[in-house]
Amino acid sequence: MADGTRLAAAKSDAPAAGRSDRPARHFDITALRDDFPIFSTTMHGQPLAFLDSAASAQKPRAVIERILRFYEAEYANIHRGLYELSARATEEYESVREKARRFLNAPQREEIVFVRGTTEAINLVAGSWGRRFLAPGDAIVLSEIEHHSNIVPWQLLAEEKGLEIRVLPVTDEGEIRVSDLDPLLADGRVRFAGLAHVSNAIGTELPVAELIARLHEAGAKVLIDGAQAVPHQRVDVRALDADFYVFSGHKLFGPTGVGVLWARSELLAVMPPWQGGGDMIDTVSFAGSSWAEPPHRFEAGTPNIAGVIGLGAAFDWLEGLDLEAAFAHEQRLHGEAERALRQVEGLRIIGEARAKGALTSFVIDGTHPHDVATILDREGVAVRAGHHCAQPTMERFGVPGTVRASFAIYNREEDVEALLRGIARVKKIFG
Ligand code: ALA
Repeated sequence: MADGTRLAAAKSDAPAAGRSDRPARHFDITALRDDFPIFSTTMHGQPLAFLDSAASAQKPRAVIERILRFYEAEYANIHRGLYELSARATEEYESVREKARRFLNAPQREEIVFVRGTTEAINLVAGSWGRRFLAPGDAIVLSEIEHHSNIVPWQLLAEEKGLEIRVLPVTDEGEIRVSDLDPLLADGRVRFAGLAHVSNAIGTELPVAELIARLHEAGAKVLIDGAQAVPHQRVDVRALDADFYVFSGHKLFGPTGVGVLWARSELLAVMPPWQGGGDMIDTVSFAGSSWAEPPHRFEAGTPNIAGVIGLGAAFDWLEGLDLEAAFAHEQRLHGEAERALRQVEGLRIIGEARAKGALTSFVIDGTHPHDVATILDREGVAVRAGHHCAQPTMERFGVPGTVRASFAIYNREEDVEALLRGIARVKKIFG
């Protein structure tokens, strides 16, 4: 797939301009970083080398100021008030649906449901579509490298409905192969699959388009967890031919507490409500109630209005960038970091898939990942350490946890240098 080529290319030693006739575009990392107030702060007296964007990304000023302006000058509840302030807030909130639609190249804005984040989106699909359309004896496929949020909701449903969970295995290199679906699909009982686009724990980019095509042939619907993909590459849900695609706003430079569920309109149309309350109904009486059309059917109660508007500012900010150049910069930097980490004696990278997102998980002989992260922190380097809410992945690779350095478009060479300096210090301390 194209992304595999892109990542493989990013990992080659040749500079980008050397691989094609096209001149390398200038990417102004200093200007981009100036958009982020946090990068003017220091950590333990060092410049902040933030390598934990897979957990949550930093926020550009445009997002912070948009939320502030909304609360200071535009705040009111939506879909309720007949006064101007409420009408404007409603219009602003609803306009973000169109921005999200464009971002994913989805066919209709009514297919965008605002949720709290990826976790809530998956729980919504399990609790609504899954509970209605999966039946005892049906099987569902999950990859072996899913985040807990794409495992546990399905386990809860499986227990309730008598479903079987089948695991699509990961290779020793960390790859997911389409052919490994065949034995899982052989008896024709698989009705659904939940797959990460990019693994949060080891960075593998799954061949999602091919997996979806094979699963569709077998009659299964597919949910793609795009949390670790959307901040790093353009995603087109029509080209992928997914059924559900979900992501969180906070990893996409937006605020916490807001995310997106995209689902095909024909699926949303027949999905029952997941939560009941205000805004999701058509009529209510004690004899019975009827439901609003999607997407409002799935947005009960006062939503995270400021969060959605902040997410809209993040979409705008991204649109204002030369995103292709920004992604190329990030991939080059990540490729350089991986090459340098491979040279460190006693350091083992967990997950060596050919196609990887912008993160590297590793362990260092004789050290615990938490100790490594603590020492790195003293050097101003922020990384995540532990099982990354992916315990089955850790078990598969025989480690209790890893150190994970994850990149975003705002990282720079100095962050990689700080990481390597910090690792040298770890090795000195642990002898
Ligand atoms: N899922 C997020 C991570 O991988 C929180 O760190």
